[in-house]
Amino acid sequence: MHAWRVTRFGEPAEALTFEEDVPAFEPGPGEVKIRVEAAGLGLPDVFMCRNGYPLTPPLPFVPGQEAAGAVVAVGEGVDPAMIGRRVFGTTAFQAGRGGLAQECLMAAGAVYDLPEGMTAVQAAGFYIPYWTAWIGLVRRAALTPRDVVLVLGASGSSGCAAVQLAKAVGAHVIAVAGGPEKSRFCREIGADDVIDHRSEDIAVRTRALTGGRGADVVYDPVGGRAGRAGFEATAFEGRFVVIGFASGEWVRIDVSETLFPNISLVGALPGAFPRAVYDRAHRELSDYWRRGAFTHVGSQVFDFADGRRAIEHIAAGAVQGKVVVRVR
Ligand SMILES: NC(=O)c1ccc[n+]([C@@H]2O[C@H](COP(=O)([O-])OP(=O)(O)OC[C@H]3O[C@@H](n4cnc5c(N)ncnc54)[C@H](OP(=O)(O)O)[C@@H]3O)[C@@H](O)[C@H]2O)c1
Repeated sequence: MHAWRVTRFGEPAEALTFEEDVPAFEPGPGEVKIRVEAAGLGLPDVFMCRNGYPLTPPLPFVPGQEAAGAVVAVGEGVDPAMIGRRVFGTTAFQAGRGGLAQECLMAAGAVYDLPEGMTAVQAAGFYIPYWTAWIGLVRRAALTPRDVVLVLGASGSSGCAAVQLAKAVGAHVIAVAGGPEKSRFCREIGADDVIDHRSEDIAVRTRALTGGRGADVVYDPVGGRAGRAGFEATAFEGRFVVIGFASGEWVRIDVSETLFPNISLVGALPGAFPRAVYDRAHRELSDYWRRGAFTHVGSQVFDFADGRRAIEHIAAGAVQGKVVVRVR
């Protein structure tokens, strides 16, 4: 089969090779094989090219943490009736069987059928950003329509989903982006206010926009200085949701700093919850989707031949929404 593989570690330009005769993947127990229609890519794929991600598989491997397509084979213990279903979900990327190929593997118990009216390109970029946003905002931070949410990295894939989900829930959203183009994008996806972190102080501006109170919920996929500013802008009894470190370093917070302002530090990562939790996420997110709440799902699309360019685009910090590669 045809696949993009990381054959040596380095920047995406030198790490990725397009190969035409990669041996077909065979599904192991509990797995399904997917004929990939589209693959969702993200910053972790860049980190894996550089061998800077905790779940980087041994060389050579196919990157791509999520995908959408049809089930074409099942492994031991999986109901053969699954064959033919069009599904989306996370791939077995940690075993080197990611989505940037004509076929990939997924855990049979973790896939979902495409919501009504959703294309494969959209579905390939739906799972990680939106399930993470749902776990972070709805389940872990108990977001309500009365809350003000500050979303860091709001034009990126995690942030874009968080902005749209928070708006769907009815909260007031302050988005943080770098530069006028990304700020414009944040307004387009529904943010009520936008802070350009290149020219404005995140904490000062958030306080100004909230009458001095700060944000009830802060969603942080960025860390570093931006994350720190987000923490300083968290309201009394606020919730600070730890998602990632797009800036290159995690946010630094001393636990003692949470005491006087009664702030909750909330970690969020879909991965180890019981299936019933994901089912609830799927129901609620599909419902928002049907009602048209999510206008930007899988919004920067590349052809399969441009797989390397897609990952370079992410490495260059040019993401607006979610990068998806159309495989067929
Ligand atoms: N917890 C989970 O389950 C989960 C799920 C998905 C992703 N993640 C993690 O979340 C992080 C972000 O992933 P992503 O896919 O959203 O990445 P992305 O699409 O590349 O977006 C990252 C955003 O961060 C902003 N940014 C980068 N450096 C910054 C800085 N120094 N200061 C302020 N903003 C900065 C960029 O926006 P500007 O250019 O506008 O600044 C960019 O839009 C990664 O660490 C990833 O591993 C975690």
